[in-house]
Amino acid sequence: MAKTTIADLGDLRGKRVLIRVDFNVPLDKKTGAIKNDRRIRGAVPTINALLEKGAAVIAMTHVGRPSGDPAKDAVLKTDAIAARLGEHLGRPVQKAGDSVTGPAVSAAAQTMKPGDVLVLENLRFDPREQKNDPTFAVELAGLADVYVNDAFGTCHNDKDASMVAVPAAFKAAGRPRAVGLLVAKELEIIDGLMTAPKRPVLSVMGGAKVSDKINFIQALLAKVDHLLIGGKMGYAFLKAQGTAVGSMEIPEEEVAAAKNLLPHVGSKITLPVDSVVCKSDDLTAVETVAGPIGAGYQGVDIGPETVKLYSTKIAGAGTVIWNGPVGWFEQPAFSAGTRKIAEAMANCPGITVVGGGETAEAVEQFGLDAKMTHVSTGGGAFLAYVEGKKFASLAQIDDR
Ligand code: 3PG
Repeated sequence: MAKTTIADLGDLRGKRVLIRVDFNVPLDKKTGAIKNDRRIRGAVPTINALLEKGAAVIAMTHVGRPSGDPAKDAVLKTDAIAARLGEHLGRPVQKAGDSVTGPAVSAAAQTMKPGDVLVLENLRFDPREQKNDPTFAVELAGLADVYVNDAFGTCHNDKDASMVAVPAAFKAAGRPRAVGLLVAKELEIIDGLMTAPKRPVLSVMGGAKVSDKINFIQALLAKVDHLLIGGKMGYAFLKAQGTAVGSMEIPEEEVAAAKNLLPHVGSKITLPVDSVVCKSDDLTAVETVAGPIGAGYQGVDIGPETVKLYSTKIAGAGTVIWNGPVGWFEQPAFSAGTRKIAEAMANCPGITVVGGGETAEAVEQFGLDAKMTHVSTGGGAFLAYVEGKKFASLAQIDDR
């Protein structure tokens, strides 16, 4: 669905733009250091384009899921994010006060000049954010003349005021709303994937929980030619088939979700043919097995025969959509399967799209992100959009 973009907004000289970004970046739990700033970099082209149009920019984001305890939540403040944004923009970025809205923040906004950039405090520090609260929305909307949504990773959050009630307040006041370049690109690429994909279309699904992704998988089955399974969910399928999975604990609901998909195994769905396993109490006792996994062992990666099989299928695909690592890639000894899938995709002449936070991080860790057609900034949003869900956030922005 093509939406009004910032290119349609014309000259913004003297205007303040309130932009919702998704700077919900992975942080070190103790120090709060930013572990990966891909999402910050992702919004830089939009912010630069707004500044070039003569605007002052007020950026707002959530970070993590605050507990409500200020001491514990201190690592979730946006100061470090504002500083990092400044580094990428090559200009000073001010952090607004300690509260998300209020007189000090309004005063800071009022005195902004063209080219200035201000970052608000973590939206979720105000409990009204996740209640789509109209009073909060009016306070935020009062800061600026124009609203921009460049937060693809948060577009599926229908209860976030900054995503829905704020653009609704701009709409009610007859003020412009648009999507940023990042959201426009995500929509264009994923829409293209879903409407006129280059065939054969192949999807690689990994990660832990089939039950979380079952709707997504069902939706994909209607659209793709092949679905290759890996990761922890692969073992849920094995267990559903009655194969022993060693000491790995797989909750009953996971097995039930996999069982529902078993009729497609052997036709559209392909399961791993072998597995890298290690002793549950000794990560260095590693073996490759095809078939049942012995007691005391747990599966940690797809095996070499599966890598060969999946790589061949990927090489012949017109489109590849990947969500979820196929092994415990954070452990270098068990990262081979995920790395090989990333390499096969990097060498695939077709369209290659990576969705989901962890998968995107893995591809970046292997230095292969630039070799993909698209690496989505969305995790849950990517899954929900591919599944065909309609987003209340995007409904607030006019179609193009
Ligand atoms: C994400 O990381 O998927 C988005 O930033 C949304 O975060 P949330 O799951 O905490 O709403």
